[in-house]
Amino acid sequence: MSTAQHGLAADIETVRTEALDRLETLATAANATEWESNYLGPRGRVTLLLRGLGQLPKEERPIAGRAAQQLRNELTDAFGPVNERLALEVIAARLVADAVDISLPGRKPTIGAAHPISIVTAELVDIFALLGFQAVFGPEVETGRYNFDLLNIPAEHPARDVWDTIHVETQGEEIVLRTHTSPMQARTMERLQPPVRVIVPGRAFRFEAQDASHEWQFTQLEGLAVDRNITMADLKGTLQEVARQLFGPERRIRFRCDFFPFVEPGVDFAVDCAICDGKGCRVCKHTGWLEMGGAGMVHPNVLRGVGYDPDEVSGFAFGLGIDRIAMMKYGVDDVRAFANNDIRFLRDFAEAVG
Ligand code: PHE
Repeated sequence: MSTAQHGLAADIETVRTEALDRLETLATAANATEWESNYLGPRGRVTLLLRGLGQLPKEERPIAGRAAQQLRNELTDAFGPVNERLALEVIAARLVADAVDISLPGRKPTIGAAHPISIVTAELVDIFALLGFQAVFGPEVETGRYNFDLLNIPAEHPARDVWDTIHVETQGEEIVLRTHTSPMQARTMERLQPPVRVIVPGRAFRFEAQDASHEWQFTQLEGLAVDRNITMADLKGTLQEVARQLFGPERRIRFRCDFFPFVEPGVDFAVDCAICDGKGCRVCKHTGWLEMGGAGMVHPNVLRGVGYDPDEVSGFAFGLGIDRIAMMKYGVDDVRAFANNDIRFLRDFAEAVG
């Protein structure tokens, strides 16, 4: 055995003892990684020993080589289980740290519900469908032409003041937030030929002081029927049936004279109070009647404006307040509750309605 071989054998022994001793002391996965690179890594002690074989005389290399390789295998085998144990400890520690207490009650998911106005709108759409009316929808930002002119409300007409209007600033044409759903009367008639039977649910806007029964935005449902020989009796029968579908078969409808430039004659209509059966109570403010909206026979000027011949066809139109109906149905005493987005109101409501 040459001196060099002696030296190598001694080195192997030193490395073995040291490496195995240290392996015992490893406490963490990081220690293990470090140990591995110190001994078995590309610049580790064992690797260097193996590389040093080249310095030996040729005939000594096989024996020394075997010894070094054996060391490598021995250390690799010893390292495996230690490394595995430390890696498992890391996972175990993480599992403890991330533990979820499954005995805690879960967070209740927030479930949305339909808005009261949407519920009533959907109900009205269903009722009118039974009566042969199709629901159509129109723009909330309107031109003065549809909101006023085609409804027989000319520019300087005093009636134009009635709808304290929110104007959209523009250079040219008058643009407004629609003050009612009536502009869809003209839009629909321009598009269709009689017979026409539509309803138009939607929002309308007025620039006015707010209180428990007035909002600057509210929801209406317009109705329009145009055909040969449509009469006021058709109007009354239709509204009567809607009131009965909404509030029960006992209900009656009341018409009183009223003025709207786009109808002639015009009425306001009310339903007898379902709460007190018309005897008078808090809900109907002791009148026995609940106001529902305006209506009348379509004015000949409106028919002419869209190219219909008032000698050939006639029609009725009405606009009912959806907010009012929702207030009555659900006993809400402030119209502002619908639009002010108070989650408590909406939640109470969602729970009450289900
Ligand atoms: N547009 C009217 C309003 O907002 C209601 C109405 C509609 C009256 C149709 C008559 C006919 O007050």
